[in-house]
Amino acid sequence: MNRRKFLSSSLATAGSALLASRAASARTAAGTYAAQAQIPGAVAPAAIDSARFPDGFIWGIATAAYQVEGAWNLDGKGESNWDRFAHTIGKVKGAATADVPCDQYHHYKEDVAILKRLNLKSYRFSTAWSRIQPTGTGQVNQKGIDYYSRLVDALLEANIRPFCTIYHWDLPQALEDRGGWPNRDLASYYADYAGILAKHLGDRINTWAPFNMPWTFTYYGYGNGVFPPCKSDFNQFLKAAHTVNLAQGEAFRSIKAASSKATVGSAYGMAPAYPKTDSEADVAATARYHAMNNLYFLNPAMHGEYPKAFLGATPYEAMGFRPGDEKIMKIPLDWVGFHYYTRRVVSNAAGPSSSGTGGHFGTEVEGEQGTSARDPLTQIHVEMPTEGPLTEAGLEIWPRGIYDLVTQISREYNHPIIEISENGCCYLDAPDQAGHVPDQRRTAFHQQILAELARAITDGAKVRAYHAWSLVDNFEWSEGYTQRYGLTYVDFRTQKRTIKDSGLWYGRVAAANRLNV
Ligand code: FCB
Repeated sequence: MNRRKFLSSSLATAGSALLASRAASARTAAGTYAAQAQIPGAVAPAAIDSARFPDGFIWGIATAAYQVEGAWNLDGKGESNWDRFAHTIGKVKGAATADVPCDQYHHYKEDVAILKRLNLKSYRFSTAWSRIQPTGTGQVNQKGIDYYSRLVDALLEANIRPFCTIYHWDLPQALEDRGGWPNRDLASYYADYAGILAKHLGDRINTWAPFNMPWTFTYYGYGNGVFPPCKSDFNQFLKAAHTVNLAQGEAFRSIKAASSKATVGSAYGMAPAYPKTDSEADVAATARYHAMNNLYFLNPAMHGEYPKAFLGATPYEAMGFRPGDEKIMKIPLDWVGFHYYTRRVVSNAAGPSSSGTGGHFGTEVEGEQGTSARDPLTQIHVEMPTEGPLTEAGLEIWPRGIYDLVTQISREYNHPIIEISENGCCYLDAPDQAGHVPDQRRTAFHQQILAELARAITDGAKVRAYHAWSLVDNFEWSEGYTQRYGLTYVDFRTQKRTIKDSGLWYGRVAAANRLNV
C-alpha cells in the first residue's frame, strides 16, 4: 500500500484522539510491513504484541552536544576539533556546519517539554568540553557550567533522569593541536574535565558515561582519517585508543571522588559479528572483530587488560603501554551501556592490507571493498550485509542483532546491568500538508528492535533502559544534514519542531511499557 496514502487517511484529528487513532495505524502498518513483505530478519507481529518490559524499565532518548547545541562560539565556548573540521571546505556534505544545528542551547526548554510530552524518563545528552574549558585545560568557563545546570534543572523538574555523556567526539581544538588523543597527557586533562563536571553537576546528575563510541572516534580520527584530525595511521590509532582507556579509568576515579552519588557506565558502539563462513579462520577473525570493535574499551575497564584483538601479540610498545597501566584502566563500571545499529559479517583477511582506506561514516557502514584486511594487525575484513532492508543511511535492518549482542555481552561479563545508549534509523520523511510526519518505517524499525530486546530480557539479560537516537533531527557528522534520525522533525531554517508519528508512538510505548500501542 502507498505509505503516504495509508497514513493520510488516518490523520484526521488532532490531540489525544489523534494519538489513539494513530496507535492502531502504526501497529497495523508495522505488522503488515513485516508479515506481507516477508522481509528477511523481520520479527513476527505476534512477537511485537506479546513483548513485555520489566516494571520501571527506563524509556529514554539521546542527543550529543555538537550535533544539537549550536552556540558554537557563544558565552566563552572555545573552538573544538569538529568546529575546525566543519569549517574546512570539503569535509562535510553540503558544506554544512553545526554552528546552529537545532540550537538546543536556546531551545532546551522546548526540547525538555517534548521529552515530557513523550513520557520519557531519561535524556542522554553530552557536554562540550570546550564549553567547560575552552582550551581543554585550566580555568572553568562558568557560563558553560551554567548552561548545563539550567538544562539539568529543567530535566529534573520534568521528572527526567539526566544521563550525561562526558565526551561525544568534540575535543577542544587546542588539545588537538597538542597531538590529540595519541598524546598520553590527555588522559589526565580529561579526568580533570570530568571531575569539574561532577563537582558542579554531580549533586543532580547520577548517571555518567565517559565516552561515546570510543573505537569510532579514535579509529575514524587517527586510523582512517574520516573524522578530525584526519590522520590515517594505525599506530596513531593504537596510541589514541590507549590514552582513552587510561582516561576512562582516571575519569571514573575523579567523578567518584567529586560525587558520592555518581554511577559510571559507558556508551560504547557495538555490533554483533557473524563469521562469513564456518571456517576456523573466519570464526577466529570474527572473535578479533568483537575484541577490537566491541570490547576494546570494556575489557580494560572490567579486567584491566586488552582483549585478544590482534592476530599476533598485543602491540604494547606501539600503543605506548607502560607497566602499571593495567591498574589505571581497571574500574568496576556500575553498568554497561552500548548502542546497537546494525550487524557485521567478518572474514579472515591475512594478506595485503588496505589500512588507511577512505572509509565512510553513517553510523559506520564499514563494508570495505575487495577482500583485503582493514588494518595490518587485526587482519580482518568487515562487511555490512544487505540481506535485510536498508535504511536511508544504507544500514541493514537486522532486529535479531540486538538479541545476539545483548545476550553475548551478558554471558561474557557475568550479567551486568545494561543500558542501550542508542538505537535508531535514518529516514527522510518530512511534514505532509497537514503538518504531520508519517514516518511509519521508523516506528516499524523501533518496534522490531524492541521486540528482540524484550526477548533478550525474558531470556535473562538485565537490561534496564533503552535510548532511541534521536530526540531531534540534527547534524549527522560528516554527513551534514543529509540524514535525519530524529523522532522529532526539525526545520533547520526556522527551528520549528514537529513530533513525528514515530515519536508519538514511542511516547505511548513509554507510557504503556509495551509495543502494541
Ligand atoms: C552514532 C553516534 C551518534 C549518531 C548516530 C546516528 O554512531 O553516536 O552521534 O551519529 O550514530
